Formats: sequence, C-alpha cells, structure tokens
Amino acid sequence: MNPNTAVEQLHSIDRECRHLEKTTALLQWDQETQLPPGAVEDRAEQIALVQSIWHRKLTDPQTGRLLDELGADEQTPGGDEKLPRLERDFCRVFRRNYDRAVKLPEDLVRDAARAEGLSQAAWVEARQANDFASFVPHLTAMIDFARKKARCWGFEGPRAYDGLLDLYEPGLTAAETEALFTPLKEGLSALLQKIARAAPPETSFLDREYKVEEQVRFNRELMEGLGFDTRRGRLDISVHPFTSSLGFNDIRITTRYAPANVLSSVFSTIHESGHAFYELGLSPELQGSCLAEGASMAVHESQSRLWENVIGRSLPFWEWWLPRLKARFPEQLLGVAPEAFYRAVNQVRPSLIRVDADEVSYALHIILRFELEKQLFAGSLRVEDLPGAWNRLMKDLIGVTPPSDTAGVLQDVHWSMGSFGYFPSYALGNLYGLQIWEKLRQDLPETGTLIREGKFEILYQWLREKIYRSGCRVEPAALLAQVTGEKLSVNPFLRYLKDKYTVLYGL
Ligand code: CO
Repeated sequence: MNPNTAVEQLHSIDRECRHLEKTTALLQWDQETQLPPGAVEDRAEQIALVQSIWHRKLTDPQTGRLLDELGADEQTPGGDEKLPRLERDFCRVFRRNYDRAVKLPEDLVRDAARAEGLSQAAWVEARQANDFASFVPHLTAMIDFARKKARCWGFEGPRAYDGLLDLYEPGLTAAETEALFTPLKEGLSALLQKIARAAPPETSFLDREYKVEEQVRFNRELMEGLGFDTRRGRLDISVHPFTSSLGFNDIRITTRYAPANVLSSVFSTIHESGHAFYELGLSPELQGSCLAEGASMAVHESQSRLWENVIGRSLPFWEWWLPRLKARFPEQLLGVAPEAFYRAVNQVRPSLIRVDADEVSYALHIILRFELEKQLFAGSLRVEDLPGAWNRLMKDLIGVTPPSDTAGVLQDVHWSMGSFGYFPSYALGNLYGLQIWEKLRQDLPETGTLIREGKFEILYQWLREKIYRSGCRVEPAALLAQVTGEKLSVNPFLRYLKDKYTVLYGL
C-alpha cells in the first residue's frame, strides 16, 4: 500500500477515536457540572459503553496492520522518500497509544475498571469515617492492578513504578525523578524554615464576605482579560475545578465559589485558564489528531502553575487587577494597596492538605507521595503501614502531624482510582514552568511592565510559539531542550522562590 494511503486510513481511525474520547469527556464534564445525583448510575454505564467502543476501535487488528506496514521509521517501500515530519510524529504517537491499549488483555481492563469503581466508593466512605483499615483491601487491589498493567507494558518487577511514571511523563524514570526531588526537598525545607521564623502578612481583609454573584462577574472579567477566547470555551462551576477539552474549539474550565474565600475562585480560574491556553494555542494543523495534546502531564501543569503562581501571584499582576477587584468589592478592600494584597496572596504556612498548600511547601506534599509510592511498588512498605509512614514523613517534611487519616493519607482521590505515578507531575510542572519562564524573561525583558499594563496577550503568544503550538509532537525533554537549550533542573524554580520570598518576608 502507498504509505500516504496507509497514513490517511490511520488518520481516519484516529479522528473517530478522538470523537469518542471527546464524547466521553463531554459526559464526564456534564457529570461534574450539571448531572442530577439520581442519574449517576446511568451515566457510569453510558461512559463505560463509549469507552469500550473507543477501545475496540483503537485496538482493531487493522490498526496494527497499518502501523506495521508503515514500519518503525515510516520509510516508504521504495526507500527513497520518507513521510513528512508531521506524519512521522503522528505515526509515532499513534503507535504509542495503540501499544498502550493493545498490550492490556481485555479481562484485565474490565476487572481493573470494576475494581476502581468499588475502590473509589470505599475511599469516599473510609475518608468520611476516618477508617483506613476498610480501604486497605481496595488499595492493595489497586496496587496489584497497576503492577499487572506495568508488566504488560514491559516494566517487570522493580521497574513497575517506572512504567507508571512513563504514562504521565514519557521517558522519565523513578531514579531521574529522585535525582530532581532530593535537591528540591533540601532547597524547599531550608526556605520554609527561614520563612517560619518571619512575621506573617496581614490577611484579615480576605476573611470578609465576598458575594458570590460579584465573584462570578469578576472571574469572567478575569478570564477574558487574560485572553481566554470565549468563542472557543467557557467557564462553569464544579466541586473540584478542572479543565476539559471537548473539541479543538471547545475548552471548558470550571471554578468554585465560596463567600468566605474569594481567592479560591480567582486562583482556580487562573490555574485552569493556564491549562486552557495550552489547548487553545495548539496549531490548527493538529486539529482532530492524537497530536493535539499537551507534551505531558507535567508540561501541561507547568502552564497552569506558571499562570497561577508566577504571573497570578506577582506584584505587577495585582497592580493591574486589584483596582478591578476593588470596583466590585469596594468595602471589603477599602484601603488595601497592591503590595498588601500581593503579600496576602503569598502567605506561607504549613498545611496538612495538599490542595491548600502554598507555593513553597506544595512540592513537599508531592515528594511525600512520591516516596511512599516508590516504597509501595518496591515492596518495602506494606499498605497496612501506610498511615504511620505518611504521618512520619509529614512531620519530617512539613512539620505537622495529621490529627486523623481523613486529614492525612486518605485526603487524595488519586490512589483510590489506581492513579500511581501521577503525583510527581504536579511538582515537575513547577520545574518546567520556571525553566521556561527564565527563558521568556530573557526574550521579553519588560515582562513586569507587560503584566502591570494588562498585556497578557504578548506572554501568551510567546508561550504559544514555544510550547503550545507543537502539542505532543515533541517529547518533554526534547521540548525543554528546544526552548531553553538545557535539561530539566530544580535551579530556576528554587532561584525564583528564594528571590521572591526573601523580599516578601524580609529574610
Ligand atoms: Co492543574
């Protein structure tokens, strides 16, 4: 077969798979934002059905034959002419997705999915009742399924955890992650100890009541002011904020509102807008293709964190946005200057809960989870002993001890869903983000002025050219090398925190 014909056929299969994925995403988005509670069971069946059709389509033997025909290097049978670069990238990523799906036996996929449902329900109950023991058999089963999947993907025995990390961060091993996390841990702990001895900022104006209706209006103004094109997406409400791509021109973000916590909605909106910018900035030539994805979980997270923390928690940002927030909340923010607001949104204090953590201690919460996952998969930590190990590490790393497992080992949903190897991408996102940001500031030295004048479009365009456009055509390490000329490092992130918090806290 002519290679171009084979590629065309693969594109056609891929397009249908993408439509099925986006259909699943729409069902899930609706479940998180609109679905009446009584409809949950039907919805679970609808999602399972669409997913099984997707799986069958992706793993059809015809797909494998087409991929084999194109060969590893996509050399044409004549050997004189290769496919264009874009098509070679497409075949490589499509092959990777196909291999991931086809290597898992159907009964393993089915059994794992069913166990996951039960495990999540058990986690909800265990968390409510502060009863870790009742969750132990489910968590044990989740670890077992994850190990079996890793083995199917070629990661045997002690390498199982590498196989799970690779799902979210292609090519990254546990040893490489550890080599980054060790200096990160030291740098963050040292900074945290210094901050703990300094006086905390004034934050009482944040404790006032901020009417939800006005918050809704402000968040809309905020997302549009940052450059979110509302003809290609929208903002809704959910319990846990998220971003979902329902199509190339349909990126949904959510936030949540509480009258007593105005910062929660604001920073969720900025964070999710950062994720959305990545999706909205993909090159049109990737539309409808498996290449229309972020380079990895961590690179995606680097963008949400960059917008939320580096841009959104900067002084110039609040020099621009505080007058606009004040216009909606004149009484609550009477007499509050941008500097005071800037100090308040950067308050550092040890927290038991990861999602409430500040910019300095956040990665320590991730390092804790990474350490425990590594030990669980190495077999050196038993599931029964997890709460004790959690509490000891919490004390070591963050200096606090959870009063209950609900506020400790049971706080995150990830493990109950079998998502092991996922957590590190949150902290790696900080590292990618700051490394990219240092380069951006070299190219655009007037960054502070741009932010202070609300010219976010210029930052977005730079990020789009360097990061967003190429989707997952380039793997994370290669993308970083392409943009910065360097390997992933903890130094830019640690430098950024040290510079920022030394001034903020007068260290
Ligand atoms: Co995120």
